[in-house]
Amino acid sequence: MGSHFGLLIYFTCLIMVLHFPNFVVSGKPQVPCYFIFGDSLFDTGNNNQLDTKWKANYPPYGIDFPKGHTGRFTNGRTAADIIGQNLGFDEFIPTYATATDDQISKGVNYASGGAGILDRTGIHNGDRFSFHQQIVHHNSTVSRISRIRKNTTFLKECIYVVNIGMNDYIHNYFSWIWSTGGTYNSSLLYSTQNYATILIIQYYRQLKALYNLGGRKVALFGLGQLGCTPFIVKNWGYKGKPCADIFSDAEYTFNYRLKTLVDGLNKLKPDARFTFINATSILQKKEGAPVTSPSLPIPTKKKKLPDYKKYQARPCCPVKDDSHCIPNSTPCPTRTSSTYFDSVHPTEPNNIAIATRSYKALLPTDVYPYDIHQLTQVKL
Ligand SMILES: *[C@@H]1O[C@H](CO)[C@@H](O)[C@H](O)[C@H]1NC(C)=O
Ligand SMILES: *[C@@H]1O[C@H](CO)[C@@H](O)[C@H](O)[C@H]1NC(C)=O
Ligand SMILES: *[C@@H]1O[C@H](CO)[C@@H](O)[C@H](O)[C@H]1NC(C)=O
Ligand SMILES: *[C@@H]1O[C@H](CO)[C@@H](O)[C@H](O)[C@H]1NC(C)=O
Repeated sequence: MGSHFGLLIYFTCLIMVLHFPNFVVSGKPQVPCYFIFGDSLFDTGNNNQLDTKWKANYPPYGIDFPKGHTGRFTNGRTAADIIGQNLGFDEFIPTYATATDDQISKGVNYASGGAGILDRTGIHNGDRFSFHQQIVHHNSTVSRISRIRKNTTFLKECIYVVNIGMNDYIHNYFSWIWSTGGTYNSSLLYSTQNYATILIIQYYRQLKALYNLGGRKVALFGLGQLGCTPFIVKNWGYKGKPCADIFSDAEYTFNYRLKTLVDGLNKLKPDARFTFINATSILQKKEGAPVTSPSLPIPTKKKKLPDYKKYQARPCCPVKDDSHCIPNSTPCPTRTSSTYFDSVHPTEPNNIAIATRSYKALLPTDVYPYDIHQLTQVKL
């Protein structure tokens, strides 16, 4: 009942947002600035100048984005772009390499495709800015702001979002899933429990550095349903189910540790607010219902469970072995109803769901303990 209602709201919101993509923003943003950290899910072009295979600045990426292929690993906006619009910013936050003095006081995007919490993660495909390197970049930004503005106290009012950790699994611990995955010894050295501990300790160090650089309102995105991506389902799915469970343990462990880290940081730093965004809750619609679907019928009690196979996610663009779109290929025409653009990255409609529900939670499980809108309201 509850989740039928949730599903209905989800689709209503989705349809509303899809029909009014350029909603008018008037007045000042709710916060003075917005800083973005993470991997390809949030990258908007930081990798364009790097010597790397972690790139998306070619068609068909960006086919539904006004400026075309900018380096975003999707057809349209990233979830971080959409959160920025919800916060009232009328321009997208610039990448670190391009941000001008006039822009940096409103925020910078440091996210880099292939990046991980661990520096080594993703190394087999070339350069990328690890989370550590992103914090180093933020350190330079803060020095630059302090030269320009003389006073950096306003940074405590800003929103910081971090979406990192996926690659520490799919391009490090589980890199054996790829024929082109490079060699990492983490899965030989550590159990999933110990590996999650190593990641969280490193994450904790970097978040303390972010705090020391003035960050006080920080949203951390958990891992969401890696086992449902077309690449994984194609190779490790079974019985036609919409998701494979090879990552379930690792994902569960990491997400719970991250939530515990949020509690720990909130206790340790009472003048800051950290929050966990539960991507699993947001992406999960209903027990037995497909997570991904070309044209998902709203399940009713009377109907039998859907024929899963029909709903297994397929990439919208023709893909290479490394999961990215083949350059200049023609993507599917039904991008508003497909979940994945290439074989790991979501389409814009999925990003809209993540952004909408992390900004204003729909279900109690979506965020812990705050949604991003609540973060903007906190007086510190
Ligand atoms: C910086 O600005 C805040 C108010 O925005 C003020 O309270 C504080 O005293 C200022 N600090 C310095 C060093 O000027
Ligand atoms: C694991 O790999 C890292 C990075 O290449 C290396 O420094 C380390 O010595 C390796 N550990 C073992 C036990 O092989
Ligand atoms: C920022 O950089 C300065 C100069 O390199 C360094 O002393 C400081 O520790 C750095 N701060 C953080 C939080 O990393
Ligand atoms: C995320 O939400 C799901 C419900 O959809 C819940 O089962 C899971 O425990 C939540 N994860 C965390 C870390 O709280």
